[in-house]
This record gives sequence, C-alpha cells and structure tokens, in this order.
Amino acid sequence: MTKTIMVSNQKGGVGKTTTTLELGAIYARKGKRVLVIDLDGQVNLSMYVNAKYDDKNIPTIRDVLLEIKEILKSSEPETDDMEDGEDDIITRSIQTTGEGFDIIAGHRNLSNALAEFSDTTDVFLLKELISCLEDYDYILIDSAPARSPLLNMGYVAANYCLILTEADKASQDGVKQVVTDIKLLKKSKMSDIVILGILLNKNEDLKNQEEAYEDLCVFGKTNDCMPFETIISKAAGATTAKNMYKSIHAYRDTKGIDKRSIQGILTDFENLAVEIEKRIEKLER
Ligand SMILES: Nc1ncnc2c1ncn2[C@@H]1O[C@H](COP(=O)(O)OP(=O)(O)OP(=O)(O)O)[C@@H](O)[C@H]1O
Ligand SMILES: [Mg+2]
Repeated sequence: MTKTIMVSNQKGGVGKTTTTLELGAIYARKGKRVLVIDLDGQVNLSMYVNAKYDDKNIPTIRDVLLEIKEILKSSEPETDDMEDGEDDIITRSIQTTGEGFDIIAGHRNLSNALAEFSDTTDVFLLKELISCLEDYDYILIDSAPARSPLLNMGYVAANYCLILTEADKASQDGVKQVVTDIKLLKKSKMSDIVILGILLNKNEDLKNQEEAYEDLCVFGKTNDCMPFETIISKAAGATTAKNMYKSIHAYRDTKGIDKRSIQGILTDFENLAVEIEKRIEKLER
C-alpha cells in the first residue's frame, strides 16, 4: 500500500524541502517507487530537481487540483468521465527526475491557494488525487511555510506527518501549531493522519539543542509525537548540493568534491529513512 508522508512546519527554512528531497533520493536508491509532490508556491523542490513548473504543456500540482475540482463539480460522482479526465491530467503532470523519483511540480500561484481553494470540499482534492496514484511505495509531500488550505489538504490526504524543526523557539512553536491543526482536523473526522515524529534539523551539538531535544521529548510524550532518535547535523554541503541542483546523495557522486564534509549528514538522513520505515512498520503491524 502507498504510504503518503507530509513534511510540515509553517515556520520557514527549517529543512522541509531538504528532508523531502533526501528521503525521496534515499528511498528511490533503495528501489522504492517514489513520487514527490511540491505543494509550495516557492517551487524550491521543483527547481532543485530541474522539474518544469512554468511549462504550459506540463500540468503542475495547481493545475491538477483545479482540474479535479472542475471535474468533481461538473460530473456525477464516480462516472467514467471523471476517472478518464483525472487520469489524463495526472499522467501528464508526472515528471521523472535524475534523483530516481517522480515529481508533480509546484506552481508560483500556489501562494494564492486561499482564493483558489476556499470551498469547504476543496480540502479533499489532494486526497482524491492520491487515491488515483496506487503505483507508488511512497508519496512525499513538501509543504509551504504558511498555514493555508494546501496545508490542510496535505493533512487530509497523507497517512503520516513528519514535523521538521530547528532548536529555536519559533520553530518549536511551529511544531505545536502543526499538532494543534492536525488535532482539529482529526477531531472533525476529516483526517486520520498520524504524526510519525518530530525531526530536529541543523544540529551542532550545542547545549541549547540538547535542551530543545529534551523539550521535544516532553512535548512528544503528552502529544503522542515523539521526536526521532535521529537528529540531522548541520552541514554546509546541504546548501552546496542544492546550488548544484542535486540532493546531497547525488552531490556525493560528483567528481572532485570533499566527501568527508557531507558524510555525517548523509548518514543522518539514511538513519532517518530507516527509522521512518521502522516506525511505519510498527504502526501498521
Ligand atoms: N542540515 C542542514 N545543514 C545545513 N543547512 C541546511 C540543513 N538543512 C537545510 N539547510 C539549509 O537551510 C535552508 C532552508 O532549508 P529548506 O529549504 O530545506 O527549508 P524549508 O523548511 O523547506 O524552507 P521553506 O519554509 O522556505 O520552504 C537551505 O539553504 C538549506 O540548504
Ligand atoms: Mg521548502
């Protein structure tokens, strides 16, 4: 069964896109079929994998969601018309990448989501899309640093949520906000998403980061969302790789680079990928 994981925190710059990209690259290298959905108007992830996000011939996630909205409005539920129309635009939207995973690209206008996806039933559009994508082992959703209808769509569509944070108070406040938003959606029976864990990123082994991790453990215990044992180290290579339009894993294979500087962060992400698999396995046992 496809496992859909939403990567979230409305606080900007905590590492959502980096983590989505690395996990996608790792699972694809392990032979898993992976699709990544760029649900962010900044289109960072689409850029990093050289996906087309402004080509009229290739639908983006915004086009797909708008089309599904139109089809659902204009057709009787569950007709062949609906399925054919959806299948066509979905197939055309899926791009392959050099990282080994597929992507449905983002679109700059996703930042207008409040205007375009404000109907109460719009919250189910991404779930409808994902129900048509059965061929993947993992679908990873990268989200924007803003609370919007798109974020709720992600929480409704995904099986699991991975909350990113740095050690600072603002990022941790963002964690609490994600948990609150998810609780509300679950209470109203719109979502059955499970928080897989909280991931502390950009670690430098400083005292305040140890304290932040302890705080996350306390918060996690009372809110059923324990932080991952894996912590991601801070490494300049994370940004260098993206500047070369590569995941850190693909960057490692580039000739002439100093691999020692990125070995730590590579191992961290690999450990994270395993820990995620184990947590999912335990939950689904
Ligand atoms: N572990 C890390 N070590 C060093 N730099 C990192 C690490 N993780 C992310 N970064 C860098 O931090 C910046 C923000 O990361 P990223 O774009 O992944 O965050 P984001 O949460 O997706 O941001 P946004 O909220 O704007 O979408 C990028 O320059 C990225 O390369
Ligand atoms: Mg991002």
